[in-house]
Amino acid sequence: MDNLLETKKINNPLSGEITIPPDKSISHRSLIFGALTKGKIKIKNLSLGADCLSTLKIFEKLGVKYAWLNERDLISDSSNGFIENTHLTFDCGNSGTTTRLLMGMLAGLNLTSNLIGDKSLSKRPMKRVIEPLELMGAKITSNENKLPIKIEGRKLKGIEYFSKIPSAQVKSCLMLAGLNAEGETVLYENVLSRNHSEIMLEYLGANIQTGQDEKGFFVKIKKSSLIPKDLEVVGDISSAAFFMVAGAIVPNSKILIKNVGINPTRSGILDIFKQAKINFELKNERFISNEKVADILVSYTKEIKPFTIEGALIPRLIDEIPILAVLAACAKGQSIIKDAKDLRNKESDRIKTIVEAFKEFDVDIVEKEDGFIINGKDKISKNVTLETFLDHRLAMSYFVLSLINEKTTKIKGFDCINTSFPEFLNLVKSLGYNG
Ligand code: S3P
Repeated sequence: MDNLLETKKINNPLSGEITIPPDKSISHRSLIFGALTKGKIKIKNLSLGADCLSTLKIFEKLGVKYAWLNERDLISDSSNGFIENTHLTFDCGNSGTTTRLLMGMLAGLNLTSNLIGDKSLSKRPMKRVIEPLELMGAKITSNENKLPIKIEGRKLKGIEYFSKIPSAQVKSCLMLAGLNAEGETVLYENVLSRNHSEIMLEYLGANIQTGQDEKGFFVKIKKSSLIPKDLEVVGDISSAAFFMVAGAIVPNSKILIKNVGINPTRSGILDIFKQAKINFELKNERFISNEKVADILVSYTKEIKPFTIEGALIPRLIDEIPILAVLAACAKGQSIIKDAKDLRNKESDRIKTIVEAFKEFDVDIVEKEDGFIINGKDKISKNVTLETFLDHRLAMSYFVLSLINEKTTKIKGFDCINTSFPEFLNLVKSLGYNG
C-alpha cells in the first residue's frame, strides 16, 4: 500500500453536521446472526468498510443470498441454510472480528474451512480463541496460533470458560460456538467487554442469559434457533471519535455528530471527555434495535485537561486509544494510558507505533509495556512522514493531529482507512477541510 496523503494545518474551524457511518462491530454481527436466523431479513445501515465486506463475502460463499436495496440496506436470505460437506477457503482480509467470530461458528459446522488474511491479520494472535474452541472439541490446525488456519467442523460440546483477557471477540466466538453446541456454554470475563452480541441475540430470541456473580460477568448460552427479524445498525462511536477529537482541538470548531451508538460498553470516550473537560453535549438520546444512540455536539475546548485511562475503562474505549492519544498531546499536563497491553495485538502494535509517530511530531511520550505517558504540547510544528502499517485507526488519528501541525504531515498507506471508514475524507471536507 503506497498511497501517500500529504496534508497541512487547517486555518478555519470545522463546523457543521455529519451523520456517522454504521458501527463496524454491529455490522459484522448483523451479517453473522442475520445469516444464522436461516430466514429472509432486512439489514439497515450496514458498514461498507472492507472489514464488513470480508464477512459478507464469506457468507456468500456459504450460500447466503444478498440483495442490496440501496447503498446501505440489504436483504439477507439464508433460508436455504449453509453449504455442507465441502472444503472452502475464506479470506478475512484485515479483519480480526471476522476471523475470531467466524472461527466459533465454523468450528461447529459440517464443513472444512481454511482461513487466510492480509499481512497485518496474519501476525495477530489466535490462541485466545483456539484454546477454548479446542476445549469444546474443535479440530483446528494453525501456523503457531496464527493464520492460515484450518478448521475441520464437528459437533461441539458446551464448556465453562474464564476469558483471561476481556475481549468481545473471544466472548462472541464462544457464543457462536455455543449456539450450536451440546449443553450449555458459559463464558466469564472480569471486566465487561462490548455486549453487542448479547443484545442482538436477546433481540433475536436466543436461549441466552447474561449477568454478574462472584466469578465475574457471565454469558450463558444454549443451542438456539434465531427468529428472523429485521436489524438496523447504529452509527459507530469509534468512527465518531475522530470527529469528536478534531472538534475539540481545532480552534473555534463546532460539530454535531448524528446517530452515534453510545452503548455503555463502548462509550468510555465520553468518560474521558468529561475528565478532559471537553465542551460536549448528548442530544436526542434513543434506542435502535436495542442499542442506545445519541447525537453528540462537540465544541472547541481551549484548555484541555490531562486524563488517565486504566482498568475497567480499557475495553470500553480500546479502539479509541490512538485518537485519545492525540487529545492527550493537546492537553495541558500529563496523561497516562495503562492496563492496555492488548493494544500490542491490534492491527499494528499500537503502543509501539503511536510512540514512534508521536516522537516524530516532537510530542513528549514515554513507552510502557502496557501503555504510554504523554505530556501535552501547546504547539505542534514539525515536518513528518508517518507509516500506517495497514492500521486504519492510526491513519485517521495522525490525520487529526495533522490538522493542528504548523508544518507538513505525510501519511503513507493512508488508503488503509477503507478498512473501516471509506467516507472519512469526504466527511472532513464537508466540515470545511480543503487540504
Ligand atoms: C471488537 C472487539 C474489540 C475491538 C475490535 C472489534 C468486536 O477487540 O478492538 O475492533 O467487534 O468484537 P477485542 O475484543 O479483541 O478487544
